[in-house]
Amino acid sequence: MPQETGSFYITTPIYYVNDVPHIGHSYTTVAADCVARFKRLKGLKVLFLTGTDEHGQKVELSASEAKKGPLEFADAVVGRFRDLWGLLDISNDDFIRTTEQRHKKAATHLWDKVRANGDIYLGEYEDWYCTPCETFFTEKQLKDGRCPDCGRTVERLKEPSYFFRLSRYAGPLLRHIEANPDFIMPEGKRNEIVSFVKEGLRDLSVSRTTFSWGIPVPDDPGHVMYVWFDALTNYLTATGYPDENDEKGVFWPADMHLIGKDILRFHAVYWPAFLLSAGMVLPKAIFAHGWWTVDGAKMSKSKGNVVDPVQVIKAYGKDAFRYFLLREVPFGLDGDFSLSALKGRFNSDLANDLGNLLSRSLSMIEKYADGVIPGVAASRDRDALELKIKSIFALLPKDYETAMDGLRFSDALNSLWTAVRELNGYVERSAPWKEKDRDVLSNILYTLAEGLRIIGVYIYPFMPESADKIWSSLGMERGISGASFDEEVKWGGIRAGKGIRKTGPLFPRIL
Ligand code: ME8
Repeated sequence: MPQETGSFYITTPIYYVNDVPHIGHSYTTVAADCVARFKRLKGLKVLFLTGTDEHGQKVELSASEAKKGPLEFADAVVGRFRDLWGLLDISNDDFIRTTEQRHKKAATHLWDKVRANGDIYLGEYEDWYCTPCETFFTEKQLKDGRCPDCGRTVERLKEPSYFFRLSRYAGPLLRHIEANPDFIMPEGKRNEIVSFVKEGLRDLSVSRTTFSWGIPVPDDPGHVMYVWFDALTNYLTATGYPDENDEKGVFWPADMHLIGKDILRFHAVYWPAFLLSAGMVLPKAIFAHGWWTVDGAKMSKSKGNVVDPVQVIKAYGKDAFRYFLLREVPFGLDGDFSLSALKGRFNSDLANDLGNLLSRSLSMIEKYADGVIPGVAASRDRDALELKIKSIFALLPKDYETAMDGLRFSDALNSLWTAVRELNGYVERSAPWKEKDRDVLSNILYTLAEGLRIIGVYIYPFMPESADKIWSSLGMERGISGASFDEEVKWGGIRAGKGIRKTGPLFPRIL
Protein backbone atom coordinates (compact mmCIF):
# COMPACT_ATOMS: atom_id res chain seq x y z
CA MET A 1 0.00 0.00 0.00
CA PRO A 2 1.16 3.52 -0.67
CA GLN A 3 2.72 5.49 2.15
CA GLU A 4 0.05 7.48 3.92
CA THR A 5 0.16 11.23 3.75
CA GLY A 6 -2.45 13.76 4.80
CA SER A 7 -4.91 12.95 2.06
CA PHE A 8 -6.32 9.86 0.44
CA TYR A 9 -8.08 9.64 -2.92
CA ILE A 10 -9.96 6.47 -3.75
CA THR A 11 -12.11 5.75 -6.79
CA THR A 12 -14.52 3.11 -8.08
CA PRO A 13 -15.05 2.51 -11.78
CA ILE A 14 -17.71 4.76 -13.22
CA TYR A 15 -20.49 2.37 -14.14
CA TYR A 16 -22.16 2.16 -17.53
CA VAL A 17 -25.69 3.46 -17.51
CA ASN A 18 -26.90 0.84 -19.95
CA ASP A 19 -27.16 -1.62 -17.07
CA VAL A 20 -28.94 -1.26 -13.76
CA PRO A 21 -26.85 -1.64 -10.61
CA HIS A 22 -26.32 -5.19 -9.35
CA ILE A 23 -24.19 -6.93 -6.72
CA GLY A 24 -21.03 -6.61 -8.83
CA HIS A 25 -21.28 -2.81 -8.79
CA SER A 26 -22.23 -2.89 -5.11
CA TYR A 27 -19.14 -4.94 -4.36
CA THR A 28 -16.57 -2.45 -5.65
CA THR A 29 -18.46 0.49 -4.20
CA VAL A 30 -18.89 -1.08 -0.75
CA ALA A 31 -15.20 -2.03 -0.67
CA ALA A 32 -14.18 1.52 -1.60
CA ASP A 33 -16.57 2.88 1.02
CA CYS A 34 -15.05 0.64 3.66
CA VAL A 35 -11.55 1.91 2.82
CA ALA A 36 -12.73 5.54 2.71
CA ARG A 37 -14.41 5.26 6.11
CA PHE A 38 -11.35 3.63 7.62
CA LYS A 39 -9.00 6.28 6.22
CA ARG A 40 -11.23 9.03 7.63
CA LEU A 41 -11.09 7.37 11.05
CA LYS A 42 -7.31 7.37 10.64
CA GLY A 43 -7.49 11.14 10.32
CA LEU A 44 -6.84 11.43 6.58
CA LYS A 45 -8.67 13.89 4.39
CA VAL A 46 -10.47 11.63 1.95
CA LEU A 47 -11.82 12.11 -1.53
CA PHE A 48 -13.97 9.13 -2.42
CA LEU A 49 -15.27 9.23 -5.98
CA THR A 50 -17.82 7.14 -7.83
CA GLY A 51 -20.08 7.93 -10.76
CA THR A 52 -21.40 6.90 -14.14
CA ASP A 53 -19.99 6.36 -17.62
CA GLU A 54 -22.60 7.75 -19.97
CA HIS A 55 -21.12 8.05 -23.46
CA GLY A 56 -20.48 5.51 -26.20
CA GLN A 57 -22.30 3.40 -28.70
CA LYS A 58 -23.55 0.97 -26.10
CA VAL A 59 -25.45 3.65 -24.20
CA GLU A 60 -26.66 5.20 -27.45
CA LEU A 61 -28.10 1.83 -28.52
CA SER A 62 -29.75 1.09 -25.17
CA ALA A 63 -31.30 4.55 -25.20
CA SER A 64 -32.73 4.14 -28.67
CA GLU A 65 -34.12 0.71 -27.73
CA ALA A 66 -35.83 2.42 -24.80
CA LYS A 67 -37.07 5.11 -27.25
CA LYS A 68 -35.29 7.82 -25.29
CA GLY A 69 -32.58 10.32 -25.99
CA PRO A 70 -29.24 9.19 -24.54
CA LEU A 71 -29.12 11.86 -21.86
CA GLU A 72 -32.72 11.33 -20.86
CA PHE A 73 -31.98 7.60 -20.67
CA ALA A 74 -28.84 8.19 -18.59
CA ASP A 75 -30.70 10.53 -16.22
CA ALA A 76 -33.11 7.74 -15.35
CA VAL A 77 -30.46 5.08 -14.71
CA VAL A 78 -28.17 7.42 -12.76
CA GLY A 79 -31.02 7.79 -10.28
CA ARG A 80 -30.93 4.04 -9.66
CA PHE A 81 -27.22 4.14 -8.89
CA ARG A 82 -27.55 7.15 -6.61
CA ASP A 83 -30.51 5.58 -4.79
CA LEU A 84 -28.67 2.32 -4.25
CA TRP A 85 -25.59 4.09 -2.89
CA GLY A 86 -27.90 5.98 -0.53
CA LEU A 87 -29.51 2.72 0.61
CA LEU A 88 -26.07 1.19 1.20
CA ASP A 89 -24.74 4.17 3.19
CA ILE A 90 -22.03 4.84 0.64
CA SER A 91 -20.10 7.90 1.81
CA ASN A 92 -18.79 9.12 -1.56
CA ASP A 93 -17.62 12.73 -1.55
CA ASP A 94 -18.38 13.26 -5.21
CA PHE A 95 -20.44 11.59 -7.91
CA ILE A 96 -19.30 12.20 -11.42
CA ARG A 97 -21.24 11.85 -14.65
CA THR A 98 -19.24 11.93 -17.84
CA THR A 99 -21.93 14.09 -19.45
CA GLU A 100 -21.13 16.93 -17.06
CA GLN A 101 -19.49 20.07 -18.39
CA ARG A 102 -16.56 19.85 -15.95
CA HIS A 103 -15.75 16.43 -17.35
CA LYS A 104 -15.95 17.45 -21.01
CA LYS A 105 -13.53 20.24 -20.19
CA ALA A 106 -11.10 17.86 -18.48
CA ALA A 107 -11.21 15.20 -21.23
CA THR A 108 -10.76 17.83 -23.94
CA HIS A 109 -7.79 19.30 -22.09
CA LEU A 110 -6.15 15.91 -21.61
CA TRP A 111 -6.61 15.16 -25.31
CA ASP A 112 -4.98 18.46 -26.23
CA LYS A 113 -2.02 17.73 -23.96
CA VAL A 114 -1.50 14.27 -25.41
CA ARG A 115 -1.79 15.62 -28.94
CA ALA A 116 0.65 18.45 -28.19
CA ASN A 117 3.11 15.79 -27.13
CA GLY A 118 2.87 14.21 -30.58
CA ASP A 119 1.03 11.12 -29.39
CA ILE A 120 -2.16 11.48 -31.41
CA TYR A 121 -2.28 11.04 -35.19
CA LEU A 122 -4.98 10.46 -37.79
CA GLY A 123 -5.12 7.06 -39.48
CA GLU A 124 -7.62 4.43 -40.50
CA TYR A 125 -8.84 1.66 -38.34
CA GLU A 126 -10.06 -1.72 -39.44
CA ASP A 127 -10.69 -4.58 -37.08
CA TRP A 128 -13.28 -6.64 -35.26
CA TYR A 129 -15.40 -4.62 -32.84
CA CYS A 130 -17.45 -5.81 -29.91
CA THR A 131 -20.04 -3.14 -29.17
CA PRO A 132 -21.11 -4.38 -25.70
CA CYS A 133 -17.44 -4.27 -24.61
CA GLU A 134 -16.64 -1.15 -26.65
CA THR A 135 -13.41 -2.85 -27.71
CA PHE A 136 -11.63 -3.65 -30.96
CA PHE A 137 -10.03 -7.09 -31.31
CA THR A 138 -7.59 -8.52 -33.79
CA GLU A 139 -8.46 -11.69 -35.67
CA LYS A 140 -6.04 -13.55 -33.41
CA GLN A 141 -7.66 -12.35 -30.23
CA LEU A 142 -11.16 -13.59 -31.19
CA LYS A 143 -12.39 -16.82 -29.63
CA ASP A 144 -14.18 -19.00 -32.21
CA GLY A 145 -14.83 -15.84 -34.18
CA ARG A 146 -16.50 -14.18 -31.20
CA CYS A 147 -15.57 -11.61 -28.56
CA PRO A 148 -12.94 -13.14 -26.26
CA ASP A 149 -14.36 -11.25 -23.26
CA CYS A 150 -18.11 -11.67 -23.48
CA GLY A 151 -18.52 -14.32 -26.18
CA ARG A 152 -20.90 -12.23 -28.28
CA THR A 153 -20.70 -11.64 -32.04
CA VAL A 154 -18.29 -9.02 -33.33
CA GLU A 155 -18.49 -6.88 -36.44
CA ARG A 156 -15.86 -5.77 -38.94
CA LEU A 157 -15.37 -2.03 -38.69
CA LYS A 158 -13.32 0.29 -40.83
CA GLU A 159 -13.24 3.95 -40.10
CA PRO A 160 -10.96 6.96 -40.08
CA SER A 161 -9.66 7.21 -36.57
CA TYR A 162 -7.25 9.08 -34.40
CA PHE A 163 -4.63 6.87 -32.84
CA PHE A 164 -2.78 7.17 -29.60
CA ARG A 165 0.89 6.14 -29.77
CA LEU A 166 0.55 3.47 -27.13
CA SER A 167 3.49 1.60 -28.68
CA ARG A 168 5.76 4.32 -27.36
CA TYR A 169 4.90 3.58 -23.75
CA ALA A 170 5.64 -0.13 -23.32
CA GLY A 171 9.16 0.56 -22.02
CA PRO A 172 8.26 3.41 -19.63
CA LEU A 173 5.31 1.40 -18.33
CA LEU A 174 7.36 -1.70 -17.64
CA ARG A 175 9.93 0.39 -15.82
CA HIS A 176 7.23 2.02 -13.73
CA ILE A 177 5.64 -1.31 -12.81
CA GLU A 178 9.05 -2.70 -11.90
CA ALA A 179 9.96 0.27 -9.71
CA ASN A 180 6.56 0.38 -7.98
CA PRO A 181 5.53 -3.07 -6.80
CA ASP A 182 2.22 -1.76 -5.41
CA PHE A 183 1.20 -0.10 -8.66
CA ILE A 184 -0.82 -3.11 -9.79
CA MET A 185 -2.31 -5.45 -7.21
CA PRO A 186 -2.76 -8.29 -6.49
CA GLU A 187 0.55 -9.71 -7.62
CA GLY A 188 -0.92 -12.25 -10.03
CA LYS A 189 -2.66 -9.45 -11.87
CA ARG A 190 0.54 -7.45 -12.05
CA ASN A 191 2.26 -10.42 -13.69
CA GLU A 192 -0.53 -10.68 -16.27
CA ILE A 193 -0.10 -7.04 -17.21
CA VAL A 194 3.69 -7.35 -17.38
CA SER A 195 3.38 -10.27 -19.83
CA PHE A 196 0.84 -8.38 -21.88
CA VAL A 197 3.02 -5.28 -22.16
CA LYS A 198 6.11 -7.34 -22.90
CA GLU A 199 4.43 -8.72 -26.01
CA GLY A 200 4.51 -5.16 -27.34
CA LEU A 201 1.75 -2.58 -27.52
CA ARG A 202 -0.14 -1.59 -30.65
CA ASP A 203 -1.21 2.01 -31.09
CA LEU A 204 -4.73 2.49 -29.84
CA SER A 205 -7.68 3.81 -31.78
CA VAL A 206 -9.04 6.68 -29.69
CA SER A 207 -11.81 8.19 -31.79
CA ARG A 208 -14.97 7.06 -33.58
CA THR A 209 -16.92 8.49 -36.49
CA THR A 210 -19.77 5.98 -36.74
CA PHE A 211 -21.82 7.45 -33.93
CA SER A 212 -21.99 10.78 -32.19
CA TRP A 213 -22.80 10.14 -28.53
CA GLY A 214 -19.53 11.20 -27.01
CA ILE A 215 -17.17 14.09 -26.39
CA PRO A 216 -16.20 15.69 -29.71
CA VAL A 217 -12.54 15.49 -30.66
CA PRO A 218 -11.07 19.01 -30.47
CA ASP A 219 -10.84 20.61 -33.94
CA ASP A 220 -12.44 17.60 -35.65
CA PRO A 221 -16.02 17.31 -34.43
CA GLY A 222 -16.78 14.53 -36.93
CA HIS A 223 -15.03 12.29 -34.41
CA VAL A 224 -16.00 11.53 -30.84
CA MET A 225 -13.45 10.38 -28.30
CA TYR A 226 -13.15 6.66 -27.65
CA VAL A 227 -15.31 6.03 -24.61
CA TRP A 228 -12.39 4.73 -22.52
CA PHE A 229 -10.28 7.85 -23.18
CA ASP A 230 -13.25 9.88 -22.02
CA ALA A 231 -14.15 7.62 -19.07
CA LEU A 232 -10.69 7.18 -17.55
CA THR A 233 -10.23 10.94 -17.44
CA ASN A 234 -13.04 11.13 -14.86
CA TYR A 235 -10.47 10.43 -12.15
CA LEU A 236 -8.73 13.68 -13.03
CA THR A 237 -11.92 15.66 -13.50
CA ALA A 238 -12.91 15.17 -9.88
CA THR A 239 -9.65 16.77 -8.72
CA GLY A 240 -10.53 19.96 -10.57
CA TYR A 241 -8.30 19.21 -13.57
CA PRO A 242 -7.23 21.18 -15.56
CA ASP A 243 -7.68 24.08 -13.13
CA GLU A 244 -4.37 24.28 -11.31
CA ASN A 245 -5.85 26.42 -8.56
CA ASP A 246 -8.61 24.01 -7.66
CA GLU A 247 -8.25 23.00 -4.02
CA LYS A 248 -9.05 19.37 -4.88
CA GLY A 249 -5.84 19.30 -6.89
CA VAL A 250 -4.03 18.04 -3.76
CA PHE A 251 -5.76 14.71 -4.21
CA TRP A 252 -3.87 13.87 -7.40
CA PRO A 253 -2.27 11.37 -7.84
CA ALA A 254 -5.04 9.02 -6.77
CA ASP A 255 -4.01 6.66 -3.99
CA MET A 256 -6.18 3.81 -5.13
CA HIS A 257 -8.22 2.93 -8.21
CA LEU A 258 -10.42 0.06 -7.12
CA ILE A 259 -11.74 -1.94 -10.06
CA GLY A 260 -12.89 -5.39 -11.11
CA LYS A 261 -10.44 -7.61 -12.95
CA ASP A 262 -12.44 -7.18 -16.18
CA ILE A 263 -11.14 -3.67 -16.69
CA LEU A 264 -7.58 -4.00 -15.48
CA ARG A 265 -5.93 -3.52 -18.87
CA PHE A 266 -7.67 -0.18 -19.39
CA HIS A 267 -6.50 1.02 -15.99
CA ALA A 268 -3.03 -0.48 -15.85
CA VAL A 269 -1.95 0.05 -19.46
CA TYR A 270 -3.99 2.67 -21.32
CA TRP A 271 -4.61 5.06 -18.43
CA PRO A 272 -0.99 5.32 -17.25
CA ALA A 273 0.12 5.71 -20.87
CA PHE A 274 -2.28 8.63 -21.42
CA LEU A 275 -1.07 10.20 -18.18
CA LEU A 276 2.62 9.72 -19.01
CA SER A 277 2.00 11.33 -22.36
CA ALA A 278 0.30 14.31 -20.72
CA GLY A 279 3.15 14.64 -18.22
CA MET A 280 0.99 13.74 -15.25
CA VAL A 281 1.98 11.78 -12.14
CA LEU A 282 0.61 8.22 -12.16
CA PRO A 283 -1.90 6.88 -9.63
CA LYS A 284 -0.22 5.09 -6.73
CA ALA A 285 -2.14 1.84 -6.85
CA ILE A 286 -4.64 -0.04 -8.95
CA PHE A 287 -6.31 -2.97 -7.24
CA ALA A 288 -8.30 -5.45 -9.35
CA HIS A 289 -10.70 -7.57 -7.35
CA GLY A 290 -12.30 -10.84 -8.36
CA TRP A 291 -15.57 -11.72 -9.98
CA TRP A 292 -18.87 -12.77 -8.41
CA THR A 293 -20.94 -15.53 -9.86
CA VAL A 294 -24.43 -16.28 -8.58
CA ASP A 295 -25.28 -19.79 -7.43
CA GLY A 296 -22.28 -20.98 -9.41
CA ALA A 297 -23.27 -19.29 -12.68
CA LYS A 298 -22.16 -16.14 -14.48
CA MET A 299 -24.64 -13.33 -13.86
CA SER A 300 -26.47 -12.32 -17.00
CA LYS A 301 -29.67 -10.63 -18.01
CA SER A 302 -30.48 -13.46 -20.39
CA LYS A 303 -30.17 -16.06 -17.62
CA GLY A 304 -32.31 -13.86 -15.42
CA ASN A 305 -30.04 -14.52 -12.43
CA VAL A 306 -28.90 -10.96 -11.83
CA VAL A 307 -29.18 -10.30 -8.12
CA ASP A 308 -30.97 -7.06 -7.29
CA PRO A 309 -29.19 -5.51 -4.30
CA VAL A 310 -32.35 -3.68 -3.28
CA GLN A 311 -34.14 -7.00 -2.69
CA VAL A 312 -31.20 -8.38 -0.71
CA ILE A 313 -31.11 -5.24 1.43
CA LYS A 314 -34.86 -5.50 2.04
CA ALA A 315 -34.52 -9.06 3.28
CA TYR A 316 -31.25 -8.88 5.23
CA GLY A 317 -30.47 -5.20 5.80
CA LYS A 318 -27.73 -3.08 4.29
CA ASP A 319 -25.12 -3.89 6.88
CA ALA A 320 -25.50 -7.64 6.53
CA PHE A 321 -25.11 -7.29 2.76
CA ARG A 322 -22.02 -5.12 3.16
CA TYR A 323 -20.59 -7.54 5.70
CA PHE A 324 -21.22 -10.57 3.53
CA LEU A 325 -19.58 -9.07 0.44
CA LEU A 326 -16.37 -8.26 2.29
CA ARG A 327 -16.29 -11.25 4.64
CA GLU A 328 -17.20 -14.13 2.39
CA VAL A 329 -14.42 -13.96 -0.20
CA PRO A 330 -10.79 -12.86 0.23
CA PHE A 331 -10.52 -9.62 -1.73
CA GLY A 332 -8.82 -10.29 -5.05
CA LEU A 333 -10.30 -13.78 -5.52
CA ASP A 334 -13.48 -14.77 -7.34
CA GLY A 335 -16.52 -15.64 -5.27
CA ASP A 336 -19.96 -17.10 -5.46
CA PHE A 337 -23.03 -15.31 -4.17
CA SER A 338 -25.97 -17.27 -2.84
CA LEU A 339 -28.77 -16.30 -0.52
CA SER A 340 -28.17 -19.46 1.51
CA ALA A 341 -24.54 -18.47 2.14
CA LEU A 342 -25.67 -14.97 3.09
CA LYS A 343 -28.26 -16.38 5.47
CA GLY A 344 -25.67 -18.70 7.01
CA ARG A 345 -23.27 -15.82 7.69
CA PHE A 346 -26.09 -13.65 8.94
CA ASN A 347 -27.28 -16.15 11.51
CA SER A 348 -23.86 -17.31 12.69
CA ASP A 349 -21.61 -14.23 12.62
CA LEU A 350 -24.12 -11.43 12.99
CA ALA A 351 -27.11 -12.77 14.94
CA ASN A 352 -25.37 -15.41 17.08
CA ASP A 353 -21.99 -13.84 17.70
CA LEU A 354 -22.27 -10.07 17.55
CA GLY A 355 -26.00 -9.44 18.04
CA ASN A 356 -26.20 -11.89 20.90
CA LEU A 357 -23.14 -10.41 22.61
CA LEU A 358 -24.70 -6.98 22.53
CA SER A 359 -28.14 -8.02 23.71
CA ARG A 360 -26.95 -10.21 26.57
CA SER A 361 -24.47 -7.54 27.72
CA LEU A 362 -27.14 -4.84 27.70
CA SER A 363 -29.59 -7.10 29.53
CA MET A 364 -27.07 -7.81 32.25
CA ILE A 365 -26.15 -4.15 32.64
CA GLU A 366 -29.84 -3.45 33.00
CA LYS A 367 -30.42 -6.24 35.47
CA TYR A 368 -27.31 -6.01 37.62
CA ALA A 369 -26.33 -2.35 37.32
CA ASP A 370 -29.66 -0.56 36.94
CA GLY A 371 -28.97 0.13 33.30
CA VAL A 372 -25.89 2.25 33.97
CA ILE A 373 -22.37 1.51 32.73
CA PRO A 374 -20.49 0.64 35.91
CA GLY A 375 -17.05 1.97 36.75
CA VAL A 376 -14.02 -0.21 37.22
CA ALA A 377 -13.48 -1.21 40.80
CA ALA A 378 -9.89 -0.05 41.00
CA SER A 379 -9.22 -1.72 44.30
CA ARG A 380 -9.50 -5.21 42.90
CA ASP A 381 -6.80 -7.25 41.29
CA ARG A 382 -7.79 -7.92 37.72
CA ASP A 383 -8.66 -11.50 37.26
CA ALA A 384 -7.09 -13.68 34.59
CA LEU A 385 -10.19 -13.83 32.41
CA GLU A 386 -10.38 -10.09 32.18
CA LEU A 387 -6.68 -9.73 31.50
CA LYS A 388 -6.97 -12.17 28.62
CA ILE A 389 -9.69 -10.05 27.05
CA LYS A 390 -7.59 -6.94 27.41
CA SER A 391 -4.59 -8.62 25.85
CA ILE A 392 -6.67 -9.73 22.85
CA PHE A 393 -7.89 -6.18 22.36
CA ALA A 394 -4.33 -4.90 22.69
CA LEU A 395 -3.22 -6.99 19.70
CA LEU A 396 -6.17 -6.13 17.52
CA PRO A 397 -5.25 -2.67 16.19
CA LYS A 398 -2.13 -3.92 14.46
CA ASP A 399 -3.71 -7.06 12.99
CA TYR A 400 -6.76 -5.17 11.83
CA GLU A 401 -4.87 -2.22 10.42
CA THR A 402 -2.35 -4.33 8.55
CA ALA A 403 -5.18 -6.32 7.01
CA MET A 404 -7.10 -3.15 6.07
CA ASP A 405 -4.02 -1.58 4.50
CA GLY A 406 -3.57 -4.65 2.32
CA LEU A 407 -7.32 -4.64 1.45
CA ARG A 408 -7.58 -8.01 3.21
CA PHE A 409 -11.06 -7.21 4.47
CA SER A 410 -11.97 -10.77 5.39
CA ASP A 411 -8.79 -11.09 7.47
CA ALA A 412 -9.59 -7.84 9.27
CA LEU A 413 -13.06 -9.17 10.10
CA ASN A 414 -11.69 -12.53 11.09
CA SER A 415 -9.33 -11.06 13.62
CA LEU A 416 -12.15 -8.92 14.97
CA TRP A 417 -14.47 -11.89 15.26
CA THR A 418 -11.89 -13.66 17.41
CA ALA A 419 -12.46 -10.86 19.90
CA VAL A 420 -16.25 -11.05 19.53
CA ARG A 421 -16.23 -14.79 20.19
CA GLU A 422 -13.77 -14.41 23.04
CA LEU A 423 -16.09 -11.91 24.70
CA ASN A 424 -19.01 -14.31 24.33
CA GLY A 425 -16.84 -17.01 25.92
CA TYR A 426 -15.96 -14.55 28.67
CA VAL A 427 -19.63 -14.11 29.52
CA GLU A 428 -19.95 -17.87 30.01
CA ARG A 429 -16.74 -18.25 31.98
CA SER A 430 -17.19 -15.26 34.25
CA ALA A 431 -20.91 -16.07 34.79
CA PRO A 432 -22.08 -12.69 36.11
CA TRP A 433 -25.46 -14.21 37.05
CA LYS A 434 -23.69 -16.19 39.80
CA GLU A 435 -21.43 -13.39 40.98
CA LYS A 436 -22.03 -12.15 44.52
CA ASP A 437 -19.15 -9.67 44.77
CA ARG A 438 -20.32 -6.23 43.55
CA ASP A 439 -16.86 -5.14 42.49
CA VAL A 440 -16.22 -8.26 40.45
CA LEU A 441 -19.63 -7.92 38.86
CA SER A 442 -18.96 -4.29 37.97
CA ASN A 443 -15.68 -5.25 36.37
CA ILE A 444 -17.29 -7.95 34.25
CA LEU A 445 -20.00 -5.60 33.02
CA TYR A 446 -17.47 -2.88 32.38
CA THR A 447 -15.30 -5.27 30.35
CA LEU A 448 -18.27 -6.25 28.21
CA ALA A 449 -19.37 -2.67 27.60
CA GLU A 450 -15.86 -1.52 26.82
CA GLY A 451 -15.22 -4.46 24.51
CA LEU A 452 -18.41 -3.68 22.64
CA ARG A 453 -17.57 0.00 22.35
CA ILE A 454 -14.27 -0.88 20.71
CA ILE A 455 -15.87 -3.50 18.46
CA GLY A 456 -18.18 -0.71 17.31
CA VAL A 457 -15.16 1.23 16.05
CA TYR A 458 -13.76 -1.74 14.15
CA ILE A 459 -17.02 -2.66 12.46
CA TYR A 460 -17.79 0.94 11.52
CA PRO A 461 -16.06 0.87 8.10
CA PHE A 462 -17.96 -2.34 7.28
CA MET A 463 -21.32 -1.77 8.98
CA PRO A 464 -21.64 1.91 9.82
CA GLU A 465 -25.27 1.80 10.89
CA SER A 466 -24.82 -1.13 13.27
CA ALA A 467 -21.66 0.41 14.67
CA ASP A 468 -23.52 3.59 15.54
CA LYS A 469 -26.38 1.55 17.04
CA ILE A 470 -23.89 -0.19 19.32
CA TRP A 471 -22.40 3.09 20.44
CA SER A 472 -25.75 4.67 21.03
CA SER A 473 -27.03 1.68 23.02
CA LEU A 474 -23.96 2.01 25.26
CA GLY A 475 -24.96 5.56 26.05
CA MET A 476 -22.31 7.16 23.85
CA GLU A 477 -23.41 10.62 22.85
CA ARG A 478 -21.18 10.94 19.80
CA GLY A 479 -21.34 9.07 16.53
CA ILE A 480 -18.32 7.15 15.27
CA SER A 481 -17.74 9.16 12.12
CA GLY A 482 -15.39 11.94 13.09
CA ALA A 483 -13.84 9.81 15.84
CA SER A 484 -10.16 8.88 15.82
CA PHE A 485 -9.39 5.20 15.24
CA ASP A 486 -6.11 5.32 17.16
CA GLU A 487 -7.73 6.89 20.22
CA GLU A 488 -10.95 4.92 20.23
CA VAL A 489 -9.45 1.45 20.00
CA LYS A 490 -7.52 2.02 23.23
CA TRP A 491 -8.95 0.16 26.20
CA GLY A 492 -10.63 2.30 28.83
CA GLY A 493 -12.51 4.90 26.83
CA ILE A 494 -16.09 4.17 27.89
CA ARG A 495 -17.62 6.57 30.41
CA ALA A 496 -18.99 5.05 33.59
CA GLY A 497 -22.31 6.39 34.79
CA LYS A 498 -23.94 6.64 31.35
CA GLY A 499 -27.33 5.04 30.98
CA ILE A 500 -27.63 2.37 28.31
CA ARG A 501 -30.38 2.50 25.71
CA LYS A 502 -31.80 -0.91 25.05
CA THR A 503 -33.08 -1.40 21.55
CA GLY A 504 -34.37 -4.41 19.68
CA PRO A 505 -31.91 -7.09 18.53
CA LEU A 506 -29.18 -5.79 16.23
CA PHE A 507 -29.56 -8.71 13.82
CA PRO A 508 -32.76 -10.68 14.46
CA ARG A 509 -32.25 -14.32 13.43
CA ILE A 510 -33.64 -15.19 10.04
CA LEU A 511 -35.43 -18.52 9.78
O1 ME8 B 1 -16.61 -1.31 -17.12
N1 ME8 B 1 -18.27 -9.28 -9.93
O2 ME8 B 1 -18.46 -0.23 -16.31
P1 ME8 B 1 -19.37 -1.45 -15.82
C1 ME8 B 1 -17.50 -8.31 -9.41
N2 ME8 B 1 -17.79 1.97 -17.50
N3 ME8 B 1 -17.51 -7.03 -9.83
C2 ME8 B 1 -18.35 -6.71 -10.82
C3 ME8 B 1 -19.19 -7.67 -11.43
C4 ME8 B 1 -19.13 -9.02 -10.92
N4 ME8 B 1 -19.88 -10.00 -11.41
N5 ME8 B 1 -19.89 -7.05 -12.39
C5 ME8 B 1 -19.50 -5.74 -12.39
C6 ME8 B 1 -17.27 -0.30 -16.95
N6 ME8 B 1 -18.58 -5.53 -11.44
C7 ME8 B 1 -16.74 1.04 -17.36
C8 ME8 B 1 -15.72 1.49 -16.34
S1 ME8 B 1 -13.94 3.22 -15.37
C9 ME8 B 1 -13.11 4.53 -15.95
C10 ME8 B 1 -15.05 2.78 -16.64
C11 ME8 B 1 -17.96 -4.23 -11.11
O3 ME8 B 1 -20.70 -0.85 -15.51
C12 ME8 B 1 -16.45 -4.26 -11.21
O4 ME8 B 1 -15.92 -3.19 -10.48
O5 ME8 B 1 -19.33 -2.57 -16.78
C13 ME8 B 1 -16.24 -3.98 -12.67
O6 ME8 B 1 -14.92 -3.54 -12.96
C14 ME8 B 1 -17.26 -2.90 -12.91
O7 ME8 B 1 -18.38 -3.30 -12.08
C15 ME8 B 1 -17.67 -2.78 -14.37
O8 ME8 B 1 -18.71 -1.87 -14.44
